[in-house]
Amino acid sequence: QWTMGDYKDVAIRQIREKVGDGKVLLALSGGVDSSVAAALIAEAVGNQLTCVFVDHGLMRLNEGDEVEEAFRKWDINFVRVNAEKLFLSKLAGVSEPERKRKIIGEEFIRVFEAEAKKIGQVDYLAQGTIYPDVIESGAGDAAVIKSHHNVGGLPDYVDFKEIIEPLRMLFKDEVRQLGRELGLPEYLVMRQPFPGPGLAIRCLGDVTKEKLDILRLADFIFRDEVAKAHLESAMSQYFAVLTNMRSVGVQGDGRTYDYTLALRSVTTTDFMTADWTRIPYDVLDRVSVRIVNEVPHINRIVYDITSKPPATIEWE
Ligand code: XMP
Repeated sequence: QWTMGDYKDVAIRQIREKVGDGKVLLALSGGVDSSVAAALIAEAVGNQLTCVFVDHGLMRLNEGDEVEEAFRKWDINFVRVNAEKLFLSKLAGVSEPERKRKIIGEEFIRVFEAEAKKIGQVDYLAQGTIYPDVIESGAGDAAVIKSHHNVGGLPDYVDFKEIIEPLRMLFKDEVRQLGRELGLPEYLVMRQPFPGPGLAIRCLGDVTKEKLDILRLADFIFRDEVAKAHLESAMSQYFAVLTNMRSVGVQGDGRTYDYTLALRSVTTTDFMTADWTRIPYDVLDRVSVRIVNEVPHINRIVYDITSKPPATIEWE
C-alpha cells in the first residue's frame, strides 16, 4: 500500500537530485499549497531554500505570526517582509474592487522582486501548483469575473533556470496529508482558501488600518465560534465582511451610529458554484452577541443568504 509517507520520501529524493547545490526561491503566501511546497523543499534541501513571505498587512488575525512560527523547525532562509504600511499607503482612498486587486498584485510583485534581487542568482523558482490548478489552467478561457492575481502564468520578474512544482500530481486533501507528514501544524494544513488580496476585498469601500482591525477581530470571533461548534467540515469558506454601511443602534445609554458586519459562509466543492451554509441559529446568535460585545464600532450583524450564482463568494 502506497502512502503519503512514501510520496514524501520519493519527492524529497527527486527534489535533491534536481536541485543539487542550487538555490531555490519560493513565494510563501501562508496558504496550504505554498506552505506544504515550502515544507517539502525545506526538508529536501534545507537552507538552499529561501522563502519570501510578503506580509501585506491584509492577513487575518495572528496569521502572519502563525506562518512564521510554523517554519521555525527548518533551517531555511525565511524572509518575512512587513509591508503593511506600504500596502496601506498604496490602497489609501481606493474603493473599486478591481483597482484594489491590481494595486495589491503589482505591489506584491515589486516587493517580492526586491527581495529576490537580494539573494542574487536563483536557480529554481518553486511554486505550490496542485493538480486541480494544472487542469484548470488547461481548461481554456472561462470568463474572468474577478482577476485572481495569484493564478496564472510564470513570473517573469525573477531570473531563474527552471520552475519546480512538487505538488503538481496531488489533490487538495493529499496536499493536506503531505503537510501533516511533514509536521506542519493543523491550523496551516486545514486553512480555508484565502484570496491573494486578503482582507482588502472584505473591507468594502476604502481600506484603512482601523477598519481592518475591526474586521480582523470580528472574523476571528466568527471562526472561533465555528470551531467551538465543530462546524468547519460543513463549511468550505467562511469569513466576515465589513460593509461600508453604518446604521443606528442603541448600546448602553446611548445611540450609536456604527458599521454593519456581514457574515458569509458557503459550502461548495469547486468554488464555481456555491450554496450558502445553513448555520444553526444558535451558533449565529453566539457569534453575533460576541462580536457586538467584543468589537468596537459594530452595532449590527447580518448573515448573507445568497448562493453563487447570482452572488459571488467574496463581496468584492
Ligand atoms: P468568488 O468571489 O469569485 O470567489 O466567488 C471564488 C473563490 O476565489 C477566491 N478569490 C480570490 N482568490 N485572488 C485570489 O487568490 C483574488 O483576487 C480572489 N477573488 C476571489 C475566493 O476567496 C473564493 O475562494
